[in-house]
Amino acid sequence: MSYKHTRVWNVDKNKTIDDQALFLQESTMWIRDNKLVAFPTETVYGLGANALSDDAVSEIFKAKGRPSDNPLIVHIGEKEQLHQLVEEIPDHAQRLMDAFWPGALTLIFKAKPTIAKNVTAGLSTVGIRMPSHPIAQIFLRECQVPVAAPSANRSGRPSPTSAEHVLLDLDGRIDGIVDGGKTGIGLESTVLSIVEETPVLYRPGGVTKEEIEDVIGKIDVDRSLLNQKEQPKSPGMKYTHYAPEAAVYIVEDANQIHSAILTAQARGERVGVLAKHYYDQADESIDAQSVQKLAQVLYEALREFDKRGVSIIFVEAVSTSGVGEAVMNRLEKASGGKRLMKRS
Ligand code: TXA
Ligand code: MG
Repeated sequence: MSYKHTRVWNVDKNKTIDDQALFLQESTMWIRDNKLVAFPTETVYGLGANALSDDAVSEIFKAKGRPSDNPLIVHIGEKEQLHQLVEEIPDHAQRLMDAFWPGALTLIFKAKPTIAKNVTAGLSTVGIRMPSHPIAQIFLRECQVPVAAPSANRSGRPSPTSAEHVLLDLDGRIDGIVDGGKTGIGLESTVLSIVEETPVLYRPGGVTKEEIEDVIGKIDVDRSLLNQKEQPKSPGMKYTHYAPEAAVYIVEDANQIHSAILTAQARGERVGVLAKHYYDQADESIDAQSVQKLAQVLYEALREFDKRGVSIIFVEAVSTSGVGEAVMNRLEKASGGKRLMKRS
């Protein structure tokens, strides 16, 4: 289905929570009416639909052009909603929820049949997350139903970190969007399965492996994260992702950036650089001085380079500790694994 206009609700963050809730009533009624409404979270914007309605959820797949074998995360505004959605809450899950909810951690549980079938893409498990973004919390509480929401981008594109990005991809294809400004973390949530005896990391994200292990001890890592030839457990991880129009290269040694720029320019490329420092020689340069900042601006920078007509993008690699693990995971996908190796 295609919609002529996408309605935008601009939330005034200076208003009281009660006033914001009142303002969001129409958008949340639309969710209950099985329409599609995008909303901000602390990670990226989500494209929401009533998780109890097959019809509403199937519109998400159409609007995004998303493969139907890729399950959606269900978002809740209150922890109590969990009981309606999952068969059991293992001990370590409870400890993780106490530590990280609300926040950027999606937990994979055994699903109850109340959830629309297409949410889980036929799996017996469901991913659930309680966002910490103040507007997401108000929105989700007012919805009164659990909300299925993938990132609000066209499939394959970088995830949206602002309402403008959502509109660029989905204007006219979704009913509405709650505009809450830029998101905070900038990369998606961590996806952790707690169905296995030892929990398994499916997707690195906003909450780091180290932080999780501090709470429940050693976890396993899905083999596809260690070896790209392995089939990932999380269906979404097998698709091309986060890819801008320009070719993306990971640069392992910052000393190579300067000569890489010149070589590419000599071939007639228009060069964009995303690195710790600003590069005058590049046609477009965006600097991110810390890993946190890089996470925050990564998707926006990839979209911005496209907008500025860049044909090749060099991104400086970061260490894979902390949120760096998620940054490098997304960069692997955005680049399709292309990199300038360290000179030995
Ligand atoms: O931060 C986020 O997680 C954002 C915001 C909107 O909450 N959402 C998001 O959703 O990134 P999406 O659909 O773009 O990515 C969800 C990932 C996919 O890789 C999907 O395959 C995986 O989670 N996933 C969802 N349910 C799953 C399940 N039951 N088993 C395995 N993987 C699952
Ligand atoms: Mg996504």
